[in-house]
Amino acid sequence: MQVPDYKLARKRTKDEVLIRDFKIDKSLLKLGVNKKYFIKTYGCQMNEHDSENIKGMLNLMKFEETDNMEDADFIILNTCSIRENAHNKAFGMLGRIKHIKDNKPNLIVALCGCMAQEEGVVSEIIKKYNYVNFVFGTHNLDELPDLLQKSFYDSKLNVDVISCEGNIIEDMPVLRDNKYKAYVNIIYGCDKFCTYCIVPYTRGKQRSRRKEDIIKEVKELVKDGYQEVTLLGQNVNAYGKDLYDDYDLASLLVDVSKTKIPRIRFITSHPWDFTDSLIDVIKNHDNIVKFVHLPVQSGSTKILKQMGRRYTKESYIELFDKLKKIDGISITTDIIVGFPGETEDDFQDTLDLVNYCKFDGAFTFIYSPRENTPASVLKDNVTLEEKEQRLYKLNELVNKYSLESNKRMLNNNYKVLVEGESSKKGMLFGYTETNKLVNFKGNMDSIGKIVSVKIIDAKSFSLDGEIVE
Ligand code: 5AD
Ligand code: SF4
Repeated sequence: MQVPDYKLARKRTKDEVLIRDFKIDKSLLKLGVNKKYFIKTYGCQMNEHDSENIKGMLNLMKFEETDNMEDADFIILNTCSIRENAHNKAFGMLGRIKHIKDNKPNLIVALCGCMAQEEGVVSEIIKKYNYVNFVFGTHNLDELPDLLQKSFYDSKLNVDVISCEGNIIEDMPVLRDNKYKAYVNIIYGCDKFCTYCIVPYTRGKQRSRRKEDIIKEVKELVKDGYQEVTLLGQNVNAYGKDLYDDYDLASLLVDVSKTKIPRIRFITSHPWDFTDSLIDVIKNHDNIVKFVHLPVQSGSTKILKQMGRRYTKESYIELFDKLKKIDGISITTDIIVGFPGETEDDFQDTLDLVNYCKFDGAFTFIYSPRENTPASVLKDNVTLEEKEQRLYKLNELVNKYSLESNKRMLNNNYKVLVEGESSKKGMLFGYTETNKLVNFKGNMDSIGKIVSVKIIDAKSFSLDGEIVE
């Protein structure tokens, strides 16, 4: 048993990051013959990509995926800690799994991801959910094959969670969900320690992958016909700081651009590390999308300070204005309402900022206190009713601007990466460079290609178009 430890998770030293290659014992390569697995993923793109690695490992061991939980020999939940409702969903799922396991005692159940790195969650699992076979965390994903094998002959709950600053595992097997667009990790962890956020504790310290490993991965994706990569990190703008003196996200983007992959995205950006050279690189490279997700979190400088965001409303706007000068750019954001101490005036500052920026899209959240974070000990003096009212008001405004942004696209042509058949009968769907969903009538052989589409109808969350011959 190795349970999570927040004291270790919080540590940040200059110690070198250990990089190791994925290894699997030959004896495990047939562990999954005639066995099926079911995986449920919660949370962000980072987790989605971790699940692609989990699937890669299971595939290597000859397990077959099923989307029917009742059919599975192995169920794995890849969990998220960011807000309380992500927790509740995972615990709810564990409840459902208990019923299945009651009738199928050989079923193996595992929990991994960010919740596994939480002290409170793990002690609850030990106390109340001990039919789970094993729990492992974000720092030892590659131990899945060994843990799985052990669980076949020892049914006792095994917790194997490492709380550390973090290491990097290269050459992980991967089974990607999409044939045309791929996630590529560039930096793990986060050192920003925003006061509301649990990520620095669950994902460890900021650590960049070596540039040559990233470029090699992108070159292979190009060879395999991929049209788009998304460079992933909790804060991609910090890329390189821990590894190089003179090589940052802007330099990496230039090198990735040279691979000639048609589209390069990057998420998520923290306003703090957004340099002018990065803005120039976005502007000057055709295959870098003109799309930036730039979480603001609040429009009140007072609340931003309490959140530990390190910028003011004014400096955010200054950066926003610089980015807006890039032709055709689309900017989206994240906003939290109801942070402790947020007054009506503070909330009004947020609405004012939204009215100024007219974001192309925004993810909005009610503040959720997270175990062990500095904000969780602040007096939460905003009532749930107030939080809900603020969220409602904010969403109305945000939706108004995303509809306006979509309407501005009417009658213009945009490049769309066609991903497949739409849920609308007889239609295809794909995404613009600015990540807008477009449904349109088209030929099946355009799937997997980038085509030109004229926008003929605009709704809040999607567009209709017709292919331009
Ligand atoms: N409560 C509500 N929202 C949160 N986020 C992060 N932590 C919390 C929290 N404790 C939001 C932020 C972040 C996004 C990924 O999730 O807006 O940008
Ligand atoms: Fe959390 Fe802030 Fe790091 Fe984003 S930058 S992951 S909000 S601590």
